[in-house]
Amino acid sequence: FEEEGAKGPNSEQQKWEELHVGAALMSFGAKDSKEKAKEKNKVKEYDVIMDEEIEFVQALQMPGTITDKAKEEVELSEKQKKKLSIKETQRSLPIYPFKGGLLEAIEQFQVLIIEGETGSGKTTQIPQYLYKAGFCKDGMKVGCTQPRRVAAMSVAARVAEEMGFKLGNEVGYSIRFEDCTSERTVIKYMTDGMLLREFLTEPDLKTYSVLIIDEAHERTLHTDVLFGLVKDIARFRPDLKLLISSATLDAEKFSQFFDDAPVFRIPGRRFPVDIYYTKAPEADYIDAAVVSVLQIHCTQPEGDVLVFLTGQEEIETASEMLMERTRKLGSKIKELIIAPIYANLPSDLQSKIFDPTPPGARKVVLATNIAETSLTIDGIKYVIDPGFCKQNSYNARTGMESLVVTPVSKASANQRAGRAGRVSAGKCFRLYTAWAYKNELEDNTVPEIQRTNLGNVVLLLKSLGINDLIHFDFMDPPPHETLVLALEQLYALGALNHKGELTKLGRRMAEFPVDPMLSKMILASERYKCSKEILTITAMLSVNNAVFYRPKDKVVHADTARQNFFLPGGDHITLMNVYNQWEETAHSTQWCFENFIQYRSMKRARDVRDQLEGLMERVEIEVTSNPLDTVSIRKAITAGFFYHTAKLDKGGNYRTVKHNQTVMVHPNSSMFEDRPKWIIYHELVFTTKEFMRQVIEIENGWLLEVAPHYYKAKELEDGSGRKMPKNTGKTRADVTRTY
Ligand code: CDP
Ligand code: MG
Repeated sequence: FEEEGAKGPNSEQQKWEELHVGAALMSFGAKDSKEKAKEKNKVKEYDVIMDEEIEFVQALQMPGTITDKAKEEVELSEKQKKKLSIKETQRSLPIYPFKGGLLEAIEQFQVLIIEGETGSGKTTQIPQYLYKAGFCKDGMKVGCTQPRRVAAMSVAARVAEEMGFKLGNEVGYSIRFEDCTSERTVIKYMTDGMLLREFLTEPDLKTYSVLIIDEAHERTLHTDVLFGLVKDIARFRPDLKLLISSATLDAEKFSQFFDDAPVFRIPGRRFPVDIYYTKAPEADYIDAAVVSVLQIHCTQPEGDVLVFLTGQEEIETASEMLMERTRKLGSKIKELIIAPIYANLPSDLQSKIFDPTPPGARKVVLATNIAETSLTIDGIKYVIDPGFCKQNSYNARTGMESLVVTPVSKASANQRAGRAGRVSAGKCFRLYTAWAYKNELEDNTVPEIQRTNLGNVVLLLKSLGINDLIHFDFMDPPPHETLVLALEQLYALGALNHKGELTKLGRRMAEFPVDPMLSKMILASERYKCSKEILTITAMLSVNNAVFYRPKDKVVHADTARQNFFLPGGDHITLMNVYNQWEETAHSTQWCFENFIQYRSMKRARDVRDQLEGLMERVEIEVTSNPLDTVSIRKAITAGFFYHTAKLDKGGNYRTVKHNQTVMVHPNSSMFEDRPKWIIYHELVFTTKEFMRQVIEIENGWLLEVAPHYYKAKELEDGSGRKMPKNTGKTRADVTRTY
């Protein structure tokens, strides 16, 4: 830390900051010519030093303008907003004048498509209208699905507040591993995945009077599957009302799918948004985004900033960079409030994005895609869009699935830009060129169902008794080979028999709200008598990338602390070790702090673990412990993840066993230096290469023990001339019976 202090006020860093701000003044052209000339010199310098220039060219105007009258109205309401009571705020929303018409339409039609601009009040208001119109009588509920956990939680909190209820009573939410509802709950927000699981316990969803499939335009896998299921139950439940709500212009498509259901349009208000592009592509979009925030902060009139990043890591990086730079600029700039929002952010910190910005200050919200349409943050006038999001991509040939940072679609980019024009005219800075927008971005995002592993959904549908998946009523069917591969994988896991029917094991696997490989691993732990350890590992994997804390200014300490947890066997064992040590300290916060462990993640892991343990009773597995037998623990993991096997080849690279794809051990892994011959990985993440995250060492012989129906001895020769242990000769049916 001394080093930093020694740099003094005239350090390179500070000069650099000043130059950036100089560049900012320049590019927005807000100064008189004399000053401009001065700054021009600075910019030159800046070019030489940084060789990195951000200058925006105004190239396009957002479509859609607004009449002066409407503008006046809204500007007025904005000024008064602080004084407005909840009721008045509700009345100011675009949906409010349509309340009566909407309720009439709902009365008249069983299925209704609702289309309205983001922020018009669909998610927060419609359930309240339904409540007041009597749809929540006699123990009936209104259910509203959200593709994202954070949205379900935050919207439920907001609606509870608007209605004057305590969250979890009349208004509640349900997300995976967290149920905040009670007997009294009549308005229930939930993730689309949770409603899917409700079909398992209540196949006709008979306690719901209305189902709102919200954010339908997002076309998540679970929402797409829900479309088929709710369309089906609506046929034999004429009393059920179905609302499909969407922010964009897909309404026609939804209408067609739901037998030409009528579309109810809520006219939006959108102010013009000026769009700026960079002149040249940005090499480092996080840095570019940070610089742009400071540019806006120093040169632009009041108004909050929204930055779209792809995930937690990027958001944390950007947040640290912003804090450091604003700290260095000190009192030269006005206060900048940094508010991150992403799925894993603890809920008490999430609400920070909605806190009103104090006068004179500026708020910058660093968000994932969640702020694209799911959450509306009032007061945003500037949007910074680097043009990327994280998407899962799936190769149905190799079965390889990974998270990839991908360019957004034009539709997404326009949604993002639109966030700047909700309360008044705004500006959107795209950190890519106008050419790239035109030529490199796809028009629309590919629906998730066409780019993801379907194992989970297929198992669920099979559990619901839907056997013919090829003819399931999909809005856009998944690729045939993806469906076949999912069936094959479930067969290999023992969840389906050779006729494609659910086995007893499959039925038990479906009890767990986790991916089939994980649920298989949990069930296999019975045989290896280590279910306590496997539950811990599953819970830790569910928070997996948020366990270790690695602040930029203490990376060496943090890495040492992390390495102290390493145990032979690999990362899963290490995660278990962290959890067990934490338990020994009686869940101490101090211990977490000292060991660079994120306390909140640990708490969440404990919650997840408790719930999984509760489910063990349902599948009648006694929880047994065997912490020192890491061979058994790793065999149980192998029983679920034998698909994810990689082998070290002669050239010193890892390759997947079945498809011979090159994959690398993630540098954070405890196996990064060990490089054992045979490994199993938990997941792949694609950054510059395919990285395996969470890796354990295994022996090739185990693969025949746990997946004799999948691997042949020949595939598993390790090249050392050693003979493989004999195949046990077990058939798949035997294996199924074993569990
Ligand atoms: O669903 P839609 O995009 O049509 O709008 P909404 O989410 O119902 O948002 C309506 C209003 O509620 C917006 O002005 C939001 O800013 C506000 N809201 C809020 O203040 N806090 C939340 N947690 C959610 C919404
Ligand atoms: Mg909404």
